[in-house]
Amino acid sequence: VSRTTVPVSLGPRSYDVIIGRGLLAELPGLLAGACPAPRYAIIADANVAARFGTTLRDALSRTVPTTLAPFPPGEMHKTRETWAALTDELLRAGLGRDGAVLALGGGVTGDLAGFVAATYHRGIPLVQVPTTLLAMVDSSVGGKTGVDTPAGKNLVGAFHQPRAVFADVDTLATLPRSQLAAGLAEALKHGAIADAGYFERLVATREALLHHDPEALTAAVARSVAIKAGIVARDERELGRRATLNFGHTVGHAVEAAADYRLLHGEAVAIGMRVEAALGVTLGVTAATDAARLGEALSRFGLPIAVPASLTTDRLVEAARQDKKSRAGALRVSLIHRLGTPARGDGEWTIPVDDGALRAAVDASR
Ligand SMILES: NC(=O)c1ccc[n+]([C@@H]2O[C@H](COP(=O)([O-])OP(=O)(O)OC[C@H]3O[C@@H](n4cnc5c(N)ncnc54)[C@H](O)[C@@H]3O)[C@@H](O)[C@H]2O)c1
Ligand SMILES: [Zn+2]
Repeated sequence: VSRTTVPVSLGPRSYDVIIGRGLLAELPGLLAGACPAPRYAIIADANVAARFGTTLRDALSRTVPTTLAPFPPGEMHKTRETWAALTDELLRAGLGRDGAVLALGGGVTGDLAGFVAATYHRGIPLVQVPTTLLAMVDSSVGGKTGVDTPAGKNLVGAFHQPRAVFADVDTLATLPRSQLAAGLAEALKHGAIADAGYFERLVATREALLHHDPEALTAAVARSVAIKAGIVARDERELGRRATLNFGHTVGHAVEAAADYRLLHGEAVAIGMRVEAALGVTLGVTAATDAARLGEALSRFGLPIAVPASLTTDRLVEAARQDKKSRAGALRVSLIHRLGTPARGDGEWTIPVDDGALRAAVDASR
Protein backbone atom coordinates (compact mmCIF):
# COMPACT_ATOMS: atom_id res chain seq x y z
CA VAL A 1 0.00 0.00 0.00
CA SER A 2 1.34 3.43 -0.91
CA ARG A 3 1.42 5.74 2.09
CA THR A 4 2.68 9.26 2.36
CA THR A 5 3.76 11.05 5.51
CA VAL A 6 3.87 14.85 5.53
CA PRO A 7 5.46 16.42 8.61
CA VAL A 8 4.07 19.64 10.08
CA SER A 9 7.03 21.36 11.75
CA LEU A 10 5.92 23.44 14.72
CA GLY A 11 8.64 22.82 17.29
CA PRO A 12 7.15 21.10 20.32
CA ARG A 13 3.76 21.00 18.57
CA SER A 14 5.07 19.17 15.47
CA TYR A 15 3.10 16.24 14.10
CA ASP A 16 2.74 13.97 11.09
CA VAL A 17 -0.07 13.75 8.55
CA ILE A 18 -0.35 10.15 7.32
CA ILE A 19 -2.18 9.74 4.01
CA GLY A 20 -3.14 6.51 2.27
CA ARG A 21 -5.47 3.52 2.09
CA GLY A 22 -6.67 1.24 4.87
CA LEU A 23 -5.65 3.51 7.75
CA LEU A 24 -8.96 3.33 9.62
CA ALA A 25 -8.59 -0.41 10.27
CA GLU A 26 -5.08 0.14 11.63
CA LEU A 27 -6.04 3.05 13.87
CA PRO A 28 -5.89 1.16 17.21
CA GLY A 29 -2.20 0.40 16.65
CA LEU A 30 -1.41 3.79 15.10
CA LEU A 31 -3.04 5.67 17.99
CA ALA A 32 -1.12 3.69 20.58
CA GLY A 33 2.00 5.19 19.03
CA ALA A 34 0.83 8.71 18.12
CA CYS A 35 -1.49 9.54 21.01
CA PRO A 36 -1.60 6.99 23.82
CA ALA A 37 -4.36 7.68 26.38
CA PRO A 38 -6.30 5.66 28.96
CA ARG A 39 -9.60 6.74 27.38
CA TYR A 40 -10.69 8.09 24.00
CA ALA A 41 -13.77 10.02 22.92
CA ILE A 42 -14.67 9.83 19.24
CA ILE A 43 -16.66 12.87 18.09
CA ALA A 44 -18.48 12.37 14.79
CA ASP A 45 -21.63 13.65 13.13
CA ALA A 46 -24.50 11.15 13.00
CA ASN A 47 -23.79 10.14 9.36
CA VAL A 48 -20.14 9.39 10.00
CA ALA A 49 -20.87 7.83 13.40
CA ALA A 50 -23.11 5.27 11.70
CA ARG A 51 -20.77 4.71 8.74
CA PHE A 52 -17.40 4.47 10.51
CA GLY A 53 -17.80 5.52 14.15
CA THR A 54 -19.30 2.43 15.80
CA THR A 55 -16.82 0.09 14.08
CA LEU A 56 -13.92 2.26 15.21
CA ARG A 57 -15.27 2.53 18.76
CA ASP A 58 -15.66 -1.24 18.99
CA ALA A 59 -12.15 -1.85 17.63
CA LEU A 60 -10.56 0.68 20.01
CA SER A 61 -12.60 -0.55 22.98
CA ARG A 62 -10.81 -3.90 22.87
CA THR A 63 -7.77 -2.18 24.35
CA VAL A 64 -8.84 1.31 25.50
CA PRO A 65 -12.28 2.39 26.85
CA THR A 66 -13.76 4.54 24.08
CA THR A 67 -16.90 6.70 23.96
CA LEU A 68 -18.64 7.66 20.73
CA ALA A 69 -20.24 11.11 20.99
CA PRO A 70 -22.38 11.92 17.93
CA PHE A 71 -23.96 15.25 16.98
CA PRO A 72 -26.42 16.24 14.22
CA PRO A 73 -24.68 16.74 10.82
CA GLY A 74 -24.34 20.03 9.00
CA GLU A 75 -22.75 23.46 9.24
CA MET A 76 -25.85 24.72 11.12
CA HIS A 77 -24.77 22.53 14.04
CA LYS A 78 -21.23 23.91 14.23
CA THR A 79 -22.34 26.03 17.17
CA ARG A 80 -21.70 26.81 20.82
CA GLU A 81 -24.84 24.79 21.63
CA THR A 82 -23.36 21.63 20.09
CA TRP A 83 -20.04 22.39 21.81
CA ALA A 84 -21.95 22.55 25.13
CA ALA A 85 -23.81 19.29 24.48
CA LEU A 86 -20.57 17.50 23.53
CA THR A 87 -18.57 18.71 26.53
CA ASP A 88 -21.47 17.64 28.82
CA GLU A 89 -21.43 14.24 27.12
CA LEU A 90 -17.68 13.79 27.69
CA LEU A 91 -18.03 14.83 31.33
CA ARG A 92 -20.84 12.28 31.77
CA ALA A 93 -18.68 9.62 30.12
CA GLY A 94 -15.93 10.34 32.64
CA LEU A 95 -13.27 11.46 30.16
CA GLY A 96 -10.49 12.86 32.34
CA ARG A 97 -7.65 15.29 31.75
CA ASP A 98 -5.58 12.38 30.46
CA GLY A 99 -8.19 11.47 27.84
CA ALA A 100 -7.94 12.28 24.13
CA VAL A 101 -10.45 13.37 21.47
CA LEU A 102 -10.63 11.81 18.01
CA ALA A 103 -12.31 14.05 15.43
CA LEU A 104 -13.78 11.59 12.91
CA GLY A 105 -15.47 13.23 9.94
CA GLY A 106 -15.53 16.33 7.77
CA GLY A 107 -14.46 19.89 8.47
CA VAL A 108 -17.47 20.63 10.62
CA THR A 109 -16.49 17.78 12.94
CA GLY A 110 -12.81 18.72 12.91
CA ASP A 111 -13.53 22.35 13.83
CA LEU A 112 -16.09 21.45 16.49
CA ALA A 113 -14.28 18.47 18.04
CA GLY A 114 -11.05 20.46 17.88
CA PHE A 115 -12.67 23.27 19.87
CA VAL A 116 -14.00 20.72 22.38
CA ALA A 117 -10.46 19.31 22.78
CA ALA A 118 -8.98 22.83 23.04
CA THR A 119 -11.29 23.77 25.91
CA TYR A 120 -12.12 20.52 27.74
CA HIS A 121 -10.21 20.55 31.04
CA ARG A 122 -8.34 23.55 29.52
CA GLY A 123 -7.11 21.46 26.61
CA ILE A 124 -6.58 17.76 25.97
CA PRO A 125 -4.87 15.94 23.07
CA LEU A 126 -6.63 15.77 19.71
CA VAL A 127 -6.22 13.45 16.73
CA GLN A 128 -7.80 14.36 13.41
CA VAL A 129 -9.28 11.53 11.33
CA PRO A 130 -10.71 13.36 8.31
CA THR A 131 -13.28 11.54 6.12
CA THR A 132 -14.12 14.26 3.58
CA LEU A 133 -11.71 15.46 0.92
CA LEU A 134 -12.07 19.02 2.20
CA ALA A 135 -11.03 17.93 5.68
CA MET A 136 -8.10 15.91 4.29
CA VAL A 137 -6.66 18.63 2.04
CA ASP A 138 -7.33 21.52 4.37
CA SER A 139 -9.24 21.69 7.64
CA SER A 140 -7.62 18.80 9.57
CA VAL A 141 -4.19 20.45 9.33
CA GLY A 142 -3.09 23.73 10.91
CA GLY A 143 -4.83 23.81 14.27
CA LYS A 144 -7.69 26.24 13.64
CA THR A 145 -10.75 25.12 15.58
CA GLY A 146 -14.01 26.83 16.40
CA VAL A 147 -17.71 27.36 15.93
CA ASP A 148 -20.02 29.73 14.06
CA THR A 149 -22.28 32.32 15.68
CA PRO A 150 -25.27 34.19 14.26
CA ALA A 151 -22.87 37.06 13.50
CA GLY A 152 -20.70 34.95 11.18
CA LYS A 153 -18.49 31.92 10.63
CA ASN A 154 -15.72 30.72 12.96
CA LEU A 155 -16.02 33.76 15.21
CA VAL A 156 -15.39 31.83 18.44
CA GLY A 157 -12.50 29.39 18.53
CA ALA A 158 -8.95 28.51 19.45
CA PHE A 159 -5.69 27.34 17.95
CA HIS A 160 -5.21 23.69 18.94
CA GLN A 161 -2.85 21.54 16.90
CA PRO A 162 -3.59 17.82 16.62
CA ARG A 163 -1.09 15.15 17.77
CA ALA A 164 -1.49 13.41 14.42
CA VAL A 165 -3.71 13.35 11.33
CA PHE A 166 -4.75 10.07 9.70
CA ALA A 167 -6.31 10.57 6.26
CA ASP A 168 -7.67 7.24 4.99
CA VAL A 169 -8.56 7.91 1.34
CA ASP A 170 -10.65 4.72 1.22
CA THR A 171 -13.28 6.53 3.31
CA LEU A 172 -13.82 8.89 0.36
CA ALA A 173 -15.42 6.08 -1.69
CA THR A 174 -18.85 7.02 -0.28
CA LEU A 175 -18.44 10.77 -0.60
CA PRO A 176 -20.84 12.35 -3.14
CA ARG A 177 -19.25 13.97 -6.20
CA SER A 178 -20.37 17.46 -5.14
CA GLN A 179 -18.50 17.00 -1.84
CA LEU A 180 -15.39 15.81 -3.70
CA ALA A 181 -15.55 18.89 -5.93
CA ALA A 182 -15.96 21.12 -2.87
CA GLY A 183 -12.78 19.63 -1.41
CA LEU A 184 -11.00 20.15 -4.71
CA ALA A 185 -11.92 23.85 -4.55
CA GLU A 186 -9.61 24.14 -1.52
CA ALA A 187 -6.95 22.07 -3.33
CA LEU A 188 -7.16 24.44 -6.32
CA LYS A 189 -6.80 27.30 -3.84
CA HIS A 190 -3.53 25.77 -2.62
CA GLY A 191 -2.32 25.64 -6.21
CA ALA A 192 -3.48 29.20 -6.86
CA ILE A 193 -1.56 30.64 -3.91
CA ALA A 194 1.56 28.48 -4.03
CA ASP A 195 2.08 26.13 -6.98
CA ALA A 196 0.82 26.72 -10.52
CA GLY A 197 2.11 23.28 -11.60
CA TYR A 198 -0.03 21.60 -8.95
CA PHE A 199 -3.03 23.70 -10.04
CA GLU A 200 -2.69 22.45 -13.61
CA ARG A 201 -2.08 18.85 -12.45
CA LEU A 202 -5.37 18.94 -10.58
CA VAL A 203 -7.16 20.16 -13.70
CA ALA A 204 -5.47 17.49 -15.83
CA THR A 205 -6.38 14.65 -13.43
CA ARG A 206 -9.88 15.88 -12.57
CA GLU A 207 -11.66 12.82 -14.00
CA ALA A 208 -9.62 10.44 -11.84
CA LEU A 209 -10.12 12.69 -8.82
CA LEU A 210 -13.87 13.03 -9.30
CA HIS A 211 -14.11 9.24 -9.78
CA HIS A 212 -12.55 8.53 -6.38
CA ASP A 213 -9.25 7.20 -7.76
CA PRO A 214 -7.25 6.45 -4.59
CA GLU A 215 -3.83 7.15 -6.13
CA ALA A 216 -4.91 10.51 -7.59
CA LEU A 217 -6.59 11.46 -4.31
CA THR A 218 -3.55 10.46 -2.22
CA ALA A 219 -1.30 12.58 -4.44
CA ALA A 220 -3.59 15.61 -4.19
CA VAL A 221 -4.00 15.35 -0.42
CA ALA A 222 -0.23 14.97 0.01
CA ARG A 223 0.59 18.05 -2.11
CA SER A 224 -2.13 20.22 -0.53
CA VAL A 225 -1.08 19.24 2.98
CA ALA A 226 2.58 19.92 2.16
CA ILE A 227 1.68 23.41 0.89
CA LYS A 228 -0.49 24.18 3.90
CA ALA A 229 2.06 22.73 6.34
CA GLY A 230 4.80 24.87 4.81
CA ILE A 231 2.74 28.04 5.29
CA VAL A 232 1.53 27.16 8.79
CA ALA A 233 5.08 26.25 9.92
CA ARG A 234 6.19 29.80 9.05
CA ASP A 235 3.18 31.57 10.54
CA GLU A 236 1.16 29.38 12.90
CA ARG A 237 -0.95 32.22 14.34
CA GLU A 238 -1.73 34.05 11.08
CA LEU A 239 0.26 37.18 11.79
CA GLY A 240 1.21 37.43 8.13
CA ARG A 241 1.77 34.82 5.43
CA ARG A 242 -0.89 32.38 6.67
CA ALA A 243 -3.49 34.90 5.46
CA THR A 244 -2.73 33.73 1.91
CA LEU A 245 -4.73 30.57 2.74
CA ASN A 246 -7.77 32.84 3.03
CA PHE A 247 -7.80 33.52 -0.71
CA GLY A 248 -11.45 33.24 -1.79
CA HIS A 249 -12.64 33.20 1.81
CA THR A 250 -13.55 36.81 2.56
CA VAL A 251 -16.19 36.71 -0.16
CA GLY A 252 -16.62 32.93 0.27
CA HIS A 253 -17.58 33.18 3.94
CA ALA A 254 -19.92 36.06 3.12
CA VAL A 255 -21.61 34.03 0.38
CA GLU A 256 -21.83 31.03 2.68
CA ALA A 257 -23.38 32.97 5.56
CA ALA A 258 -25.65 35.15 3.42
CA ALA A 259 -26.95 32.03 1.64
CA ASP A 260 -27.78 30.55 5.08
CA TYR A 261 -25.34 27.68 4.48
CA ARG A 262 -27.28 26.22 1.55
CA LEU A 263 -24.02 26.09 -0.40
CA LEU A 264 -21.17 23.77 0.56
CA HIS A 265 -18.15 25.56 2.03
CA GLY A 266 -15.99 24.60 -0.94
CA GLU A 267 -18.65 25.82 -3.37
CA ALA A 268 -18.81 29.18 -1.61
CA VAL A 269 -15.00 29.34 -1.74
CA ALA A 270 -15.09 28.68 -5.51
CA ILE A 271 -17.42 31.66 -5.96
CA GLY A 272 -15.25 33.64 -3.55
CA MET A 273 -12.05 32.93 -5.50
CA ARG A 274 -13.72 33.98 -8.74
CA VAL A 275 -14.99 37.26 -7.23
CA GLU A 276 -11.68 37.98 -5.49
CA ALA A 277 -9.79 37.30 -8.73
CA ALA A 278 -12.07 39.81 -10.47
CA LEU A 279 -11.41 42.23 -7.62
CA GLY A 280 -7.68 41.72 -8.08
CA VAL A 281 -7.95 42.50 -11.78
CA THR A 282 -9.87 45.71 -11.01
CA LEU A 283 -7.23 46.75 -8.47
CA GLY A 284 -4.42 45.98 -10.90
CA VAL A 285 -2.88 43.23 -8.74
CA THR A 286 -4.12 40.10 -10.52
CA ALA A 287 -3.27 39.17 -14.12
CA ALA A 288 -6.48 39.04 -16.17
CA THR A 289 -5.39 35.86 -18.01
CA ASP A 290 -4.86 34.06 -14.71
CA ALA A 291 -8.23 35.21 -13.34
CA ALA A 292 -9.86 33.83 -16.48
CA ARG A 293 -7.95 30.54 -16.19
CA LEU A 294 -9.03 30.21 -12.55
CA GLY A 295 -12.72 30.63 -13.38
CA GLU A 296 -12.47 28.19 -16.28
CA ALA A 297 -10.72 25.56 -14.14
CA LEU A 298 -13.29 25.83 -11.33
CA SER A 299 -16.11 25.37 -13.87
CA ARG A 300 -14.49 22.21 -15.21
CA PHE A 301 -14.91 20.65 -11.78
CA GLY A 302 -18.60 21.53 -11.86
CA LEU A 303 -18.05 24.14 -9.16
CA PRO A 304 -20.26 27.25 -9.11
CA ILE A 305 -18.52 30.54 -9.93
CA ALA A 306 -21.47 32.92 -10.18
CA VAL A 307 -22.81 34.87 -7.21
CA PRO A 308 -26.33 33.45 -6.61
CA ALA A 309 -29.09 35.70 -7.96
CA SER A 310 -30.90 35.42 -4.61
CA LEU A 311 -28.03 37.28 -2.88
CA THR A 312 -28.11 41.03 -3.25
CA THR A 313 -24.83 42.90 -3.48
CA ASP A 314 -25.79 44.87 -0.36
CA ARG A 315 -26.32 41.70 1.66
CA LEU A 316 -23.01 40.23 0.50
CA VAL A 317 -20.92 43.31 1.16
CA GLU A 318 -22.51 43.62 4.60
CA ALA A 319 -21.68 39.96 5.34
CA ALA A 320 -18.10 40.48 4.17
CA ARG A 321 -17.74 43.44 6.56
CA GLN A 322 -18.83 41.18 9.44
CA ASP A 323 -16.01 38.80 8.64
CA LYS A 324 -13.34 38.91 11.34
CA LYS A 325 -10.64 39.66 8.80
CA SER A 326 -11.72 43.27 8.52
CA ARG A 327 -9.27 45.29 10.58
CA ALA A 328 -9.77 48.80 11.95
CA GLY A 329 -12.82 49.24 9.76
CA ALA A 330 -11.10 48.56 6.44
CA LEU A 331 -11.90 45.31 4.69
CA ARG A 332 -8.67 43.44 3.89
CA VAL A 333 -8.57 40.63 1.35
CA SER A 334 -5.95 38.00 0.40
CA LEU A 335 -5.50 38.18 -3.38
CA ILE A 336 -3.28 36.49 -5.94
CA HIS A 337 -0.84 38.12 -8.32
CA ARG A 338 -0.52 35.20 -10.75
CA LEU A 339 -1.66 31.57 -10.41
CA GLY A 340 0.85 30.18 -7.93
CA THR A 341 1.86 33.57 -6.52
CA PRO A 342 0.04 35.47 -3.78
CA ALA A 343 -0.24 39.25 -4.05
CA ARG A 344 1.51 41.57 -1.63
CA GLY A 345 0.66 45.17 -0.99
CA ASP A 346 2.87 47.47 1.12
CA GLY A 347 4.68 44.42 2.49
CA GLU A 348 1.40 42.93 3.78
CA TRP A 349 -0.26 39.70 2.77
CA THR A 350 -3.71 41.30 2.65
CA ILE A 351 -4.82 44.27 0.61
CA PRO A 352 -7.33 46.91 1.79
CA VAL A 353 -10.44 47.00 -0.36
CA ASP A 354 -13.10 49.68 -0.41
CA ASP A 355 -16.78 48.84 -0.75
CA GLY A 356 -17.00 50.31 -4.24
CA ALA A 357 -14.39 47.97 -5.69
CA LEU A 358 -15.95 44.99 -3.93
CA ARG A 359 -19.42 45.91 -5.23
CA ALA A 360 -18.11 46.17 -8.77
CA ALA A 361 -16.41 42.75 -8.56
CA VAL A 362 -19.55 41.13 -7.14
CA ASP A 363 -21.74 42.71 -9.83
CA ALA A 364 -19.32 41.55 -12.53
CA SER A 365 -19.49 37.96 -11.19
CA ARG A 366 -23.21 37.24 -11.55
N1 LIG B 1 -10.10 24.65 10.37
C1 LIG B 1 -9.76 24.95 9.14
O1 LIG B 1 -8.61 25.28 8.87
C2 LIG B 1 -10.77 24.84 8.04
C3 LIG B 1 -10.37 24.91 6.71
C4 LIG B 1 -11.33 24.74 5.71
C5 LIG B 1 -12.66 24.51 6.06
N2 LIG B 1 -13.02 24.47 7.37
C6 LIG B 1 -14.41 24.20 7.76
O2 LIG B 1 -14.79 22.92 7.27
C7 LIG B 1 -16.21 22.87 7.18
C8 LIG B 1 -16.62 22.15 5.91
O3 LIG B 1 -16.16 20.82 5.97
P1 LIG B 1 -16.84 19.67 5.09
O4 LIG B 1 -17.08 20.17 3.74
O5 LIG B 1 -16.00 18.47 5.28
O6 LIG B 1 -18.29 19.52 5.75
P2 LIG B 1 -18.94 18.44 6.73
O7 LIG B 1 -18.05 18.14 7.86
O8 LIG B 1 -20.29 18.95 7.04
O9 LIG B 1 -19.08 17.13 5.82
C9 LIG B 1 -19.92 17.16 4.70
C10 LIG B 1 -20.96 16.03 4.73
O10 LIG B 1 -20.33 14.80 4.36
C11 LIG B 1 -20.70 13.76 5.26
N3 LIG B 1 -19.59 12.81 5.25
C12 LIG B 1 -18.42 12.89 5.91
N4 LIG B 1 -17.60 11.91 5.55
C13 LIG B 1 -18.25 11.15 4.65
C14 LIG B 1 -17.92 9.99 3.90
N5 LIG B 1 -16.70 9.44 3.97
N6 LIG B 1 -18.86 9.49 3.05
C15 LIG B 1 -20.07 10.08 2.93
N7 LIG B 1 -20.43 11.19 3.60
C16 LIG B 1 -19.53 11.72 4.45
C17 LIG B 1 -20.95 14.48 6.55
O11 LIG B 1 -21.80 13.73 7.40
C18 LIG B 1 -21.60 15.78 6.09
O12 LIG B 1 -22.99 15.58 5.91
C19 LIG B 1 -16.68 24.30 7.26
O13 LIG B 1 -17.28 24.52 8.52
C20 LIG B 1 -15.41 25.12 7.16
O14 LIG B 1 -15.48 26.34 7.84
C21 LIG B 1 -12.10 24.62 8.36
ZN1 LIG C 1 -11.98 26.95 3.43
